[in-house]
Amino acid sequence: MIVLDQENRIFTLHTRNTTYQMKADQYNVLEHVYYGARIDNCELSELLQCGERSFSPNPNEAGKSRSYSLDVIPQEYSTCGVGDFRLPSIELELVNGSHTTDLRYKGFRLEKGKYTLEGLPGFWDTDEEAETLIIFLIDSAAHVEVELYYGVFEAFDLITRAVRIVNQGDETVRLCQCASLCLDFIRSDLDMITFNGHHLMERCLDRGPLRSGIQSVGSMRGISSHQHNPFVMLCDRDADEDNGICYGAMLLYSGNFEAAVECSQYENSRLVMGIHPYHFCWTLEPGGTFTAPEAAMVCSPDGFGEMSRQYHRAIRKHLLRDPYKGIQKPVLVNNWEATYFDFDAEKLVEIAREAAALGIGLFVMDDGWFGSRNDDNSGLGDWQVNLKKLPGGLESLVPRIKELGMEFGIWLEPEMVNEDSNLYRSHPDWALQVPGRAPSRGRGQLTLDFSREEVREHIYTQMKKVLSSADISYIKWDMNRSLTDVWSAGLPAGRQGEVYHRYVLGVYDLLERLHQEYPHILIEGCCGGGGRFDGGMLYYTPQIWCSDDSDAIDRLRIQYGTSFCYPVCTMGAHVSAVPNEQNGRRTPLKTRGVTAMSGAFGYEMDLSRCTADERDEIRRQVEMYKTHYELISCGDYYRLSNPFEDELFTAWEHVSVDKKEALVSLVAGNVRPASPFNRLRLKGLDVSLYYQVNHEEKLYSGRALMQAGYPIPEIRMDYQSLQLYLQAK
Ligand code: GLA
Repeated sequence: MIVLDQENRIFTLHTRNTTYQMKADQYNVLEHVYYGARIDNCELSELLQCGERSFSPNPNEAGKSRSYSLDVIPQEYSTCGVGDFRLPSIELELVNGSHTTDLRYKGFRLEKGKYTLEGLPGFWDTDEEAETLIIFLIDSAAHVEVELYYGVFEAFDLITRAVRIVNQGDETVRLCQCASLCLDFIRSDLDMITFNGHHLMERCLDRGPLRSGIQSVGSMRGISSHQHNPFVMLCDRDADEDNGICYGAMLLYSGNFEAAVECSQYENSRLVMGIHPYHFCWTLEPGGTFTAPEAAMVCSPDGFGEMSRQYHRAIRKHLLRDPYKGIQKPVLVNNWEATYFDFDAEKLVEIAREAAALGIGLFVMDDGWFGSRNDDNSGLGDWQVNLKKLPGGLESLVPRIKELGMEFGIWLEPEMVNEDSNLYRSHPDWALQVPGRAPSRGRGQLTLDFSREEVREHIYTQMKKVLSSADISYIKWDMNRSLTDVWSAGLPAGRQGEVYHRYVLGVYDLLERLHQEYPHILIEGCCGGGGRFDGGMLYYTPQIWCSDDSDAIDRLRIQYGTSFCYPVCTMGAHVSAVPNEQNGRRTPLKTRGVTAMSGAFGYEMDLSRCTADERDEIRRQVEMYKTHYELISCGDYYRLSNPFEDELFTAWEHVSVDKKEALVSLVAGNVRPASPFNRLRLKGLDVSLYYQVNHEEKLYSGRALMQAGYPIPEIRMDYQSLQLYLQAK
């Protein structure tokens, strides 16, 4: 609910559990008043305090008064060069060479429903469940208008933000920075939580107290990256899963980003999040506009768990555009770890036949089916079937898979090119490279210049041919390197600062065309696993391969970190063979199933090599997943332990929305002799209900399971696992 106090120019955004307030003050500066637990009928502007502080300048309009400074007050969208020395949100360069930006309140507009951003991903709303507030600010010397967008999804405690810049003057303006979100706090005793890692180990949680100065995470790799996720949190020092206030900030963007927090001199802190200013400079001709990507905030007054569940609910309902919405997704089998590049049609059909017999419904043909692709040094860019491997092409292979009762899916890496490809031989300038410099390779490949329409058009034409040659219901859209040598032959020297962002817009453009033309195709995102696991991609690719590390124990950490923002239905997770391909670890097949089942479930192994016992176990797992699909994919998710701290086991729980069912999963770490006896305290149950566990007769009260816990059977083997299915009676 958006409440306006026009007389006092106060704007209040209420969600179910939170309140967000801003006010245009006496100097027309938009001040940030409050964000936190919900307070009804509130006018909190007496909280805004300011006084004389040396070396904190005063705006010209203040005359002789020294009691007001932009350097001290909390602001909604920070500026630079005119008195605020903390992190700026925007920086304009005018033709006179100046780099100051001064924004003042001009007006507002309310809209029903959620705003949309052209060419950019965003939370959507079809039933006017959301409301929009647009606040207009103006830099009157620069003749630049800044529109601040707020989308309020009340039931989800979700407030989205975006920014649109309009050059209303008759001179060119250059935009050197344009953040999506600025959030000021009148406190700095907060912890910052970020999700970091590398290829094969993404989104590991890192928590630490804010310290004086600037601390930040970000990416300058052209992708949101394995290294730092564009989702960060700030919280009370003692906040945990169930207690304390916490703030989540998610950027729906898949390229360079920065999330920086500054603790300033007077023990305030400011979070600024948006496109990374590195090599970003956007030219706004007179009348020109620029739109910064969307950011989405959830505040939970009651700990991380509820924040995550609100993000999960909102993402599932208002961000994903999933062709399987409301329908059960098939379990998939992918041939990558089973065959790598070494396969032919017969091998693929053999794996699919085994899979079909086990209840698996989707066969995915991974890398190696096209061009001259027999290893990872050639072929990218030539999206024509390799007829030596697949005689008769997809026209012949796909019906054979479909005859088995399975859907067919295909791997593509549209953004890439190998120098050893027909595409590169005919269009070397289509790859990103700087004149006079030999480009760096990543995985032996170069990046296509997706900022150029003709490049995208060429790739799309090839993709369409493939997609129309057979009945394809799934695409794995891969992307296997960081960007370097970012320079486009399609833009003049003065506009090269636009290439990183135009590249991302180009990726979104192609994904959107695919979505519009083939709405029935499920696209799974991938970037060497989870190198582009962000809210931007999720709008186009409702599931993303979580990591190239498929080891069940490593995955506990990766999926744990990922779950802070993203729902389990978005996390591609597969059972693979042992010893594991990435780390050599042996884990029981059951455990691999338990871990992968808490995701978009599948297999990635040569099923034709499984023993009869293994087949039985897989059949059981597939059945289990299908039976509890709704509970796992649409239920509420509770983290019961932290795999970064708890060595004995990792546990988590899915609870149905009506709290009548729950599925608890537990995976042990390395076994210890005479290990302690443990009770697992469950969460999210109904205190007034009694539950059966794994269909046994005995009943447990919901209150007892949550307060006293459930006894964990003694663990006798490394990486043993356990699943408890609870049903209210
Ligand atoms: C990336 C993906 C893998 C696989 C290979 C194929 O590494 O993350 O799952 O598709 O590419 O080359």
